[in-house]
Amino acid sequence: MKNLKYYLDKAYKEGWAIGQFNFSDWSQVRGIVQAAQNMKSPIILGTSEGEAKFVGLQEAVAMRDALRKKTGVPIFLNLDHGKSVDYLKEAVAAGYDMIHFDGSKLPLDENIKKSVEVVAFGKWKGIVVEGEVGRFGTDASKLYTEKFQIKEEDLTKVDEAKEYLKKAHIDVMAVSIGTFHGIDASGVSPHLKLDRLKDLKENVGIAMVLHGGSGTPEEDIKEGIKLGIVKININTETRLAYTKTLRNTLDANKDQITPYKYLQNSINEVQKVIEEKIKLFGSEGKA
Ligand code: G3H
Ligand code: ZN
Repeated sequence: MKNLKYYLDKAYKEGWAIGQFNFSDWSQVRGIVQAAQNMKSPIILGTSEGEAKFVGLQEAVAMRDALRKKTGVPIFLNLDHGKSVDYLKEAVAAGYDMIHFDGSKLPLDENIKKSVEVVAFGKWKGIVVEGEVGRFGTDASKLYTEKFQIKEEDLTKVDEAKEYLKKAHIDVMAVSIGTFHGIDASGVSPHLKLDRLKDLKENVGIAMVLHGGSGTPEEDIKEGIKLGIVKININTETRLAYTKTLRNTLDANKDQITPYKYLQNSINEVQKVIEEKIKLFGSEGKA
């Protein structure tokens, strides 16, 4: 099986993006992987530090391996938003394909210093390293009761991205271009700052990652991919589909106590969400 770097390079050259879909348990993974298998699409399974600590690093790797073997689909694993360098090292040792160092809350020079360290051990192990410049400005996966607008100062600045990249030789860069983690209560997240993305493409020239992909208008996603976005992270939409369906299923079946029965609707709904994203990102048939 080709490695993740191969697919990211291919996506960048051909103008499509790989979806990263976060999960907290096996039943979500089932829905995600069934979609990838149906659509013959490469995918990245993502775990934040919190999700990884719940699932277990070794357990996540074992799931990936079993499903790769069973389906033949290029399934990869990313440790998403790792803030602890030591924990990222543990993920690498466990067998993750990719690590994302999130030093976005640190001053730029400290972000660079830690990123250089992460790149050194990541590259030595031959895995993909994602760095981050700019801030998404929120905690993960909240539903907002008011309309959300990102602060101008949190957007990725071209000069900072350039300075970062001069020293930290990451493979892909997470950029802040108007998205946030979660979904706007209106149901429609703000438009991407495509001008900023164009600036970054022209002046920084690295393959970029869109975080907070849930709720982003479809047209913006398509334009973003044309402007160098090569990976798109989705979590909240999957969590919502899974949890809402579970709540409805249990409410409608008060006597139901059998997880493999009551989880099936949730798995199906997750699969639907992921299939739509795979179509939108253009990764269908690229496995
Ligand atoms: O790193 C994970 C993502 O950026 C997910 O964002 O929950 O808004 O889809 P989301
Ligand atoms: Zn994120």
